Amino acid sequence: MRIAVLGAGYVGLVSGACFAEFGVNVCIVDTDPAKVEALRRGVIPIYEPGLDKLVAENHADGRLGFTTDLEEAMEGADCVFLAVGTPSRRGDGHADLRYVYAAAEGVARAAKKDGLVLVTKSTVPVGTGQKIREIVQRVRPDLTIHVASNPEFLREGNAIGDFMRPDRVVLGADSDAAFATLRRLYRPLYLIETPIVATSIETAELIKYAANAFLATKITFINEIADLCERVGADVHDVARGMGLDGRIGRKFLHPGPGYGGSCFPKDTLALALTARDAGAPIRLVEATIAVNDARKEAMADRILAALGPSPAGKSVGILGVTFKPETDDMRDAPSLVILPKLIAAGVEVTVHDPQPGQARQVLPAATRFAASAIEAATGADVVVLLTEWNEYRSLSPDRLRSAMRGETLLDLRNAWDPVAMREAGFHYSSVGRA
Ligand code: UDX
Repeated sequence: MRIAVLGAGYVGLVSGACFAEFGVNVCIVDTDPAKVEALRRGVIPIYEPGLDKLVAENHADGRLGFTTDLEEAMEGADCVFLAVGTPSRRGDGHADLRYVYAAAEGVARAAKKDGLVLVTKSTVPVGTGQKIREIVQRVRPDLTIHVASNPEFLREGNAIGDFMRPDRVVLGADSDAAFATLRRLYRPLYLIETPIVATSIETAELIKYAANAFLATKITFINEIADLCERVGADVHDVARGMGLDGRIGRKFLHPGPGYGGSCFPKDTLALALTARDAGAPIRLVEATIAVNDARKEAMADRILAALGPSPAGKSVGILGVTFKPETDDMRDAPSLVILPKLIAAGVEVTVHDPQPGQARQVLPAATRFAASAIEAATGADVVVLLTEWNEYRSLSPDRLRSAMRGETLLDLRNAWDPVAMREAGFHYSSVGRA
């Protein structure tokens, strides 16, 4: 089989490389010549464990190519995946679909034969598949082009494992031909008995949003329970475990923290809430989740300021981890983007460390200082905040941390450290949802 993938972003690169690994001939096309040139040389624009090796091997074997030329990418392709970005539109928060529609139109123009399957992998609001069908029919009334939806559920930092061994694959289509092509592509997953949800395009589109909004709500629920735990002297981890052992609830995504971030949850919850309002069926639970999560990031900044005492100006804070989660360099909607400006506006000196600081250097306030190590970020700090739970912070020596700091307050916003060990080392230690 041969496929083209439009967009060498997170989803496009990972799916393209994984399909190639499945034995499919893949050509990834991106409009950015510098990106394509870099990919040909084996330079991956994102940090994702294992992706560089997967890309290099499949590129060397001739199954994975890169180009800026859509026609070249589509030469002989049975199927084209749209994996272009769907950012939040400035101003109203709806998903910005201009890249998706432009890509669909480009594919239709370049199509040469009947039977091509155009699959949307980007996260798009319900109804987009229908619009894509209209575009395709308008541009190429002479051809039969099948439209399908195949949302992607991979997590950053775990993307390859998630793609190769997903909990399920969702396929939305309205023709046997499209289902047959998608089934052939996903054959390796049928062999490992991955559940496949075959449904309509609208349903497939909605499944993706409903799943992400549910997970965001689950996190937000445990975050509010954590706040209550602090007030009443309960332990949120035992609450989460006791709840999560109920098979109907499940233990995952009940870890409290500074609020969810990332490229998906914030924008997808917002887009779903707006779609639902427009459709006359508002989802108030998701609206509340968005508001609670936004407020939480602000509250975390207030908590750090409170830990600095009545006059935070001139005090110094060391922050460990600024990406939205570990094992990624992604800064999109990271809690640090709300917290740091608030600290800096209050006159606090902020030094951060992150193992992958590339994007952070570009988007955090100019006054932010970057340290080369966690200990350097803690040096002279009145308060040290663990904001993103990179593994290397778990093994930090409490004694080295203690002697580097000026103060003795640790704020562990991910509950990554052992409270007993930290208190024994002489810290004034506080975490989330534990008295
Ligand atoms: C998410 C979904 O998991 C994935 O299915 C979807 O396709 C894209 O969005 P991702 O954004 O990569 O993936 O990260 P994820 O690991 O889900 O974490 C999202 C955010 O929630 C992070 O900020 C993380 O720190 C936070 N989180 C997650 C918690 O605060 N508590 C938890 O228990 C789990």
